[in-house]
Amino acid sequence: MTTEYVIDDRENHLFQVNREVFTSPEVYERERRRIFDRTWLYVGHESELPRRNDFRTRDVGGRSVIFNRDRTGRVRVQLNTCLHRGAALCRHTSGNAKIFTCFYHGWAYRNSGELVNVPANEDYAVSPVDVYKALPSPRTDSYRGFWFVNFSDEGPGLAEWLGTSTYLFDLVTDQSEEGIQVLEGSHQYTLEANWKLLVENSVDGYHAKSVHHTYFEMMLELGQTPPMLGDASTNGVPPAGLGTEFGNGNATLMYPGNGLPLANDHVRSSLAAMRERAVERFGESYATAVFNLARNSVYFPSFVMIDLNFGMILRTIHPLGPARTEVSSWHIAPRGLDEESLRYRVDNALTFWGPAGLATPDDVEALEQAQRGFGARREMAWSDISKGMGKKRPAANDELQMRAWWRQWNRSMTGRELPREVEEFVPFDRAGTRDGHQAESVLPRG
Ligand code: FES
Repeated sequence: MTTEYVIDDRENHLFQVNREVFTSPEVYERERRRIFDRTWLYVGHESELPRRNDFRTRDVGGRSVIFNRDRTGRVRVQLNTCLHRGAALCRHTSGNAKIFTCFYHGWAYRNSGELVNVPANEDYAVSPVDVYKALPSPRTDSYRGFWFVNFSDEGPGLAEWLGTSTYLFDLVTDQSEEGIQVLEGSHQYTLEANWKLLVENSVDGYHAKSVHHTYFEMMLELGQTPPMLGDASTNGVPPAGLGTEFGNGNATLMYPGNGLPLANDHVRSSLAAMRERAVERFGESYATAVFNLARNSVYFPSFVMIDLNFGMILRTIHPLGPARTEVSSWHIAPRGLDEESLRYRVDNALTFWGPAGLATPDDVEALEQAQRGFGARREMAWSDISKGMGKKRPAANDELQMRAWWRQWNRSMTGRELPREVEEFVPFDRAGTRDGHQAESVLPRG
């Protein structure tokens, strides 16, 4: 089937994307309305708000929002814009506040959104407190401490939207009985390339050997087997890994874990002890999926979770224009790690990711080069994403996960549905897992 944006030719196993979608201002505006105004978007993790009245501000879906825990302990996502004339209610990136006071004319709001004070209130015929009452609340929901917002009241709820892909959050969160925490600090950087190029790159196993060869060589020198080059299957996942899709554009690639580069004996035994506790709680099959498989996952449209065993990151991708993108990235770690093991994970992750890592700058260079290449889009109109199409079980370095994402993008933009390609693959025996994961937060409230 061909739409104006993609060619999805099942007979010839060919999938192509029109390069106009990476450059066109009209497409960019349409994405704003049809995707970012209507889809579940990741905001933050509840471990970033450990106390009542804690807040973070961040940009989500083209809006500034306040992600906070109010005075009752409830987590909220609120628009960071004053009912009066639009200035930001909160200009700090994080803090603890019961009241947000707009700096422009001083309207003040409770951290649960009610407008409570207007300077010179007596000059109004009817008090703005009675007219406006409170900030409007977008739809918010969470799964195991991961909070999402949807700026539309229409469409499926979060649970339905995520579907079975929630097990990816489980595999991350279940590394420790105490759950996970987002570590303080973040990476933020921009690139001169379309946001969808970084989405593709985040679940692209194909580029790893070429773009990240320096990292691969370092691993080989350290006696480690680089990812996807081993010779043993893990829970049915072959050495080359595999990709799988969950519907709604959510997809992952997974492969047998690639070891613990530079880990000392202490770090290794600490991780082995964590794994042993997971075996006791969930059984061998699930513990193996948690600790011995690596995953790069994308949640449509722009949230990425990467768990490479030795380090984990969350990444959000914000379009700033057709050819400009801002990236935010946070390191996460199991709670309860001793200091040495935590330091190992942070150091190791920084060796790979981040502005000075062995991976991120090379990725940015590749994406910016591709964006420049789209200058010739009239002569070369289509990009190819066909690798592994037609395989019953595409490998991690095939491109199923990207096609799954693109089909959802196409559906959001055109309303035309393109059927999924493969049945979901679950890399563990569900019998051993805990029921009702989403019922309880792992953090004490308040
Ligand atoms: Fe906020 Fe005027 S814009 S008080």
